[in-house]
Amino acid sequence: MGVVKILILGSGAREHAIITALLAEEEQHDIVAAPGNAGIAQDVRVEAGLDPLDGQAVTEYAIENGIELVVIGPEAPLVAGVADPLRTRGIPVFGPGKAAAQLEGSKAFAKRIMDAAGVPTGRAVRAETLAEAERALDEFGAPYVVKADGLAAGKGVLVTEERAAAVEHATHWLRHGGVLVEEFLDGQEVSLFLVSDGHDVLPLSPAQDYKRLLDGDAGPNTGGMGAYSPLPWLPDTFVDEVIETIALPTVRTLAKEQTPFIGLLYCGLIVTDRGIRVIEFNARFGDPETQVVLPRLVTPLSSLLYAAATGGLGGMPRPEFALDTAVTVVLASEGYPEAPITGRPITGLAEAAGVPEVTIAHAATARDESGALIATGGRVLSVVARGTSFAEARARAYEALHHIHLEGAHYRTDIAARVS
Ligand code: AMP
Ligand code: GLY
Repeated sequence: MGVVKILILGSGAREHAIITALLAEEEQHDIVAAPGNAGIAQDVRVEAGLDPLDGQAVTEYAIENGIELVVIGPEAPLVAGVADPLRTRGIPVFGPGKAAAQLEGSKAFAKRIMDAAGVPTGRAVRAETLAEAERALDEFGAPYVVKADGLAAGKGVLVTEERAAAVEHATHWLRHGGVLVEEFLDGQEVSLFLVSDGHDVLPLSPAQDYKRLLDGDAGPNTGGMGAYSPLPWLPDTFVDEVIETIALPTVRTLAKEQTPFIGLLYCGLIVTDRGIRVIEFNARFGDPETQVVLPRLVTPLSSLLYAAATGGLGGMPRPEFALDTAVTVVLASEGYPEAPITGRPITGLAEAAGVPEVTIAHAATARDESGALIATGGRVLSVVARGTSFAEARARAYEALHHIHLEGAHYRTDIAARVS
């Protein structure tokens, strides 16, 4: 494939990691991001005024600017249906349309598809009233799992031993759309990304995300505080099993329902002692897992995204990955996840990026009037390091973090600590 004119929608570390991977290819693609962030703007052109949620505006922009591939990073534009008008106009787009994005946008929809596809998942009850929720809580017992039925930026899920806390969470989310009560699944979590063209899928390398805020998996759930890849403790048959029992049945069921899934099928899995179970699907690359999966990808990323967008994955070999390791640690603002304090200056990034094999993906950064870098949200940066061992990658990531200063910022100190 030659040089491609690519528009990336989004403004997070995931999008920055996608852009970094595209820029690392031999072909010098013409890349533009909307709206991007301060880190992305250092690497490619940004269209800060283009609203990624406005499908009409994005489509007009793509046509006027001869865009050959649109990559939709975050869930919000996917669930809003931004892919649909693009596809209608014949523009290749990596990201499912509104209907298939419900796989992430509605947990109840996802459960229905999983049932139809025979995909192994935990038992779940969708509650309309508090009485129904309480009945389900008592049926499944502790630990309790209560989920908001809709997009909640990683914060809609509560896993707790406390029945009262579970009831309170259910009460809150019943007022905001609906609640799912689930059976607790015990085991290691795996994020497996599959590129899908609506019929065929190709797997990327598995990763593990650290969802809890604090060391030792304490504290509330977040969007993700760190990740590593690959997962040396997985059996060799794992990826094939997920493809055969989960990814392909799901993609085929969606195709049969006339809502083909074109984009990134994110399988959030738990490896229980009774087998692999799906805890969630997402309709896009995971954040921060993307930051550790893409740096190790040897196959040009653009070839995978373009083939998926144009229905051509069938004849392609599986993507290849480097044999080294990658670790990412997320630097978060004071107050994240409840009430992050924003607007504070960030310094030391040049020194941090000077640590061997370290790259920094920006998540929530901007420039103030004086041009200084400031934090604009909860998850601010993803420090990514590669190494020949996890110990080496970890040491590099934390060395880089020591150079970065953001008042009140915090990060987990145990990312990939127990992997070898
Ligand atoms: P989700 O947004 O559905 O991925 O849930 C966020 C996190 O909550 C997951 O990464 C798990 O750590 C945890 N979780 C979700 N569902 C379950 C479940 N059924 N059993 C155990 N843990 C769960
Ligand atoms: N890291 C979890 C997610 O992207 O949903």
